Amino acid sequence: SLDLQIREKCKELILSEEQLRQLMKTFHNEIIQGLGKKTHDNATVKCFVTYVQDLPTGKEKGKFLALDLGGTNFRVLLIELSENHFEMKSKIFAIPQHIMLGSGEQLFDHIADCLAKFMKEENIMKERLALGFTFSFPLRQLGLTKGLLKSWTKGFNCSGVVGNDVVQLLRDAIKRRGDISIDIFAILNDTTGTLMSCAWKNQSCRIGLIVGTGSNACYVEKQKNAELFDEPDAGSGQVLINTEWGAFGDNGKLDYIRTQYDKNIDQDSINPGKQFFEKMISGMYMGEIVRQALERFTKEGLLFGGKGSDLLFTKGRFYTKYVSEIESDYSGVYTNCREILEELGLKHATEQDCVNVRFVCECVSRRAAHLVSAALCTLLNKMDEPHVTVGIDGSVYRFHPHFHNLMMEKISHLINPHLKFDLMLSEDGSGRGAALVAACASAKKR
Ligand code: BG6
Ligand code: GLC
Repeated sequence: SLDLQIREKCKELILSEEQLRQLMKTFHNEIIQGLGKKTHDNATVKCFVTYVQDLPTGKEKGKFLALDLGGTNFRVLLIELSENHFEMKSKIFAIPQHIMLGSGEQLFDHIADCLAKFMKEENIMKERLALGFTFSFPLRQLGLTKGLLKSWTKGFNCSGVVGNDVVQLLRDAIKRRGDISIDIFAILNDTTGTLMSCAWKNQSCRIGLIVGTGSNACYVEKQKNAELFDEPDAGSGQVLINTEWGAFGDNGKLDYIRTQYDKNIDQDSINPGKQFFEKMISGMYMGEIVRQALERFTKEGLLFGGKGSDLLFTKGRFYTKYVSEIESDYSGVYTNCREILEELGLKHATEQDCVNVRFVCECVSRRAAHLVSAALCTLLNKMDEPHVTVGIDGSVYRFHPHFHNLMMEKISHLINPHLKFDLMLSEDGSGRGAALVAACASAKKR
């Protein structure tokens, strides 16, 4: 059975409905700040305008290239759209750590190199195709093909990119090679790609959500509320907003719920002081939150007879996928948990240890699901549309066994009672979304 002291010490990870409702109020305010012309510059949650105004109709056509950078995998894709049908080929390329932390020029040369390799393999070196670029970082967009990087997030930190137009950097790299020619028709966030991809199948999709390496959401806003939108009305009266909600709390507004673990993670990260909300939720950090708690409880003598292991005490060594695996075990004998603990050199773990370790995992993943739910509910309530489908992607949502159910339950409690919602897993990543945005844009130009 669960150790009572551990239960007591984990209480700070359990958020009451009152705390979540407070979060919703604060977050709503932060969104208003981000959208407002006068308040945007000092806002924490940036609510960037995406310049995507139309949702797909299902009638988009043509052959497109797409790049998908910023999640677990970097992908190059070739997508052929025809009415209500599509074909997609894709290839994953590695981005070595020294490039993730190197110079911008190196990064974009690498991307162009992968693109050229892919085109060669697909025998399209000589074609001039339209490309959509899914770039999953905060961008101040100045148009559909122009975006200045606000800051790097997650595991990237390449020099010489912040403040620059990422599309231009990619164009320059392609030019330096000289062996391929491409028309870049759009740059978009992965949340936007996910929303577009889902909306193609499901007309009620109005929010794109990522709970993966990072966390973020975009939603359909009335154009009149997006005070920074400066293009002529395309007729739809709406515009997609990339909230960049990962930065929520960077101004102290989440301090009432942040724990010592959250503070440690921030201090040890490559972007201290930034992305507080994301660091409480997403896959890049979740395992490490658990590990910090396990290390503490071991040192306090509450776990493993007070005797840990080098690996348990090594930063980053408790992977987020462990959390999913431990919570996926329904055998009642903690097979997955034992295996993982053995892998970490904790061969002496008892059944009681396994009960406790699983409880810590549950507290951390529940907290993440509840935080995402509260933020999502803020958007649903603000939009006030009778029925909204949320398109979702990302490894945490995809692989954690209870994340979906936890979200369904919590949102049902927090949403305004007259509203209905669905959570829908996005099956094909943001690649198709990028192709759809490029398709709309290239059709307009013709
Ligand atoms: C992928 C999308 O499926 O999910 C990416 O194609 C996105 O654009 C990613 O960034 C998010 O999940 P993760 O877990 O890979 O960060
Ligand atoms: C980070 C990025 C954001 C992206 C999210 C999910 O928060 O800043 O742009 O959407 O991760 O990948």
